[in-house]
Amino acid sequence: MADSPLKIRTYGDPVLRAVARPVEKITPELQQLARDMLQAMYAADGVGLAAPQIGKSIRLVVIDVAREESERNPIVFFNPEVFPDDESDLAIAEEGCLSVPDVWAEVARPDRVTVKALDIDGQPFEMTVEGHLARAVQHEADHLDGRLFVDRISPTDRAMLQSKLKKMARGRK
Ligand code: NI
Repeated sequence: MADSPLKIRTYGDPVLRAVARPVEKITPELQQLARDMLQAMYAADGVGLAAPQIGKSIRLVVIDVAREESERNPIVFFNPEVFPDDESDLAIAEEGCLSVPDVWAEVARPDRVTVKALDIDGQPFEMTVEGHLARAVQHEADHLDGRLFVDRISPTDRAMLQSKLKKMARGRK
């Protein structure tokens, strides 16, 4: 796997807690950043990456939930807005995050959401997604508001992970 030039920020880095600013104009530099983020995501075996995770506090997310390399289906979202489907059930599944290494915990989220965003060419698009992709979209959009999946876990899981998270935050200094 090729090395990525982008360094993934980890738990305790303040950039992960900032509210990211909207992208006003999709420049060639931002298009390249989106491609670099996809590369970094694949290199780290992730299914999603948000710009704050590589230290850029802007509203940009990349996702690819394909399991096989041959089925790759990268999606770039600039300024994504997520609307949960009111009829949708809550689904519970285990999540992890490239910025919170070696931590997995169950998170409840709506199973179906609609997301509106601009694509890599700046064209608006809208998609209604379910299951794994719906979860990834919500997890990544959370990053743009400075929210991490460990904020959404049960108090019991949180208590169990507390010391690990504290150590992680200290370790990056
Ligand atoms: Ni994440």
